Amino acid sequence: MLRFLTAGESHGPAEIAILEGIPAGMSLSVDDIQPDLEKRRGGLGRGGRGKIETDEVEILAGVRFGKTLGSPIALMVKNLDSENWKVKMSIGAKPNHLEGGLTWHVNTITNPRPGHADLSGSLKYNFDDIRNVIERASARETVMRVAIGAICKKFLTEFDIAISSQIIQIGKVQLSKSFDSKKIEEVILDATKRKDTLGGVIEIIAQNVPPGLGSYVQWDKRLDGKLAGSLMSIPSVKAVEIGDGIANASYLGSEVHDEIYYDKKRKFYRQTNRAGGIEGGVSNGEDIICRIYLKPLSTLGKPLNTVDIKTKKKTEALIERSDICVVPRAGVIAESMIAFVLADAFLEKFGGDSLSETKRNFAAYLRGL
Ligand SMILES: Cc1cc2nc3c(=O)[nH]c(=O)nc-3n(C[C@H](O)[C@H](O)[C@H](O)COP(=O)(O)O)c2cc1C
Repeated sequence: MLRFLTAGESHGPAEIAILEGIPAGMSLSVDDIQPDLEKRRGGLGRGGRGKIETDEVEILAGVRFGKTLGSPIALMVKNLDSENWKVKMSIGAKPNHLEGGLTWHVNTITNPRPGHADLSGSLKYNFDDIRNVIERASARETVMRVAIGAICKKFLTEFDIAISSQIIQIGKVQLSKSFDSKKIEEVILDATKRKDTLGGVIEIIAQNVPPGLGSYVQWDKRLDGKLAGSLMSIPSVKAVEIGDGIANASYLGSEVHDEIYYDKKRKFYRQTNRAGGIEGGVSNGEDIICRIYLKPLSTLGKPLNTVDIKTKKKTEALIERSDICVVPRAGVIAESMIAFVLADAFLEKFGGDSLSETKRNFAAYLRGL
């Protein structure tokens, strides 16, 4: 139904994306996308790159007179740091080995960072310069996922579905439900002073999702599987939880499952939501609740030991400009991935080449519940 691809190297000229499958007739402008890009760009724990990039999105195709055409939507965000690299690195540096029209120059990197794609990527693609891996493995690419996600969110809001997120843990510190920015600042500052990095936990909630998205009939149609896969694809995310999945494993069934009620207005509903809004791979009408667990970043100010890929001798891992903690910025990336999966599942269920057709189909379904 819905699909997207991204392209772009972290210090190449631009990040680009194509999203296909959004129905025709939906209002769309850069103003719908830019606020989420801002959320990803700034924030506590961010390194120097955030100050260089403006992350301004351009819509290059798929929209006419402010409305989607049903054709692929093409997006671009220029990498402003690309210019700095050309200037800074051209002094006495060797041309790099990347092909594909990139003109910037860098020194060859041979000391892989534990925890990054550096070594596994170099072995896989037979590179002798780890920069070739870093440029695409970099989470700079998530700028396009957020742009795509913003369009999917806009689509979902047409059906009153809203997605939000909150940080619930940074490092070992649990946070209260209200965004405790002072506490977060303290913890991140402490890690910065120690030249170390931090991970954490984020909760993402999708509200007002109708029952019936996803399916139990085939493994690859399960909504929980799709959500977990999409969230795991975010760099640094090492575990995904749906509902109270982790805690539930220690309780009795009678303490876990959410009893079913019916009310003429609310229709079928639950008083608890330990399942996180999905049963049997299908949304059940309750809020969809996911948690993601992010590891601490791998670029360390005090580098770990590694082995040089050329000499095979012990050395220290690469140090380069890096974030300390991405948890404050990762919530919007997770929201975007969830928005994409839900918009896709929604279109699979209700179809429609134009927004009005999708709305008609949805309204008829609701009447039948
Ligand atoms: C928004 C965002 C920004 C990131 N920035 C950095 C960074 O500055 N330095 C770093 O070492 N890792 C950073 N990462 C994490 C790496 O991209 C990631 O750990 C690496 O690609 C290896 O993938 P994996 O952790 O999923 O195994 C960032 C992740 C995200 C989501």
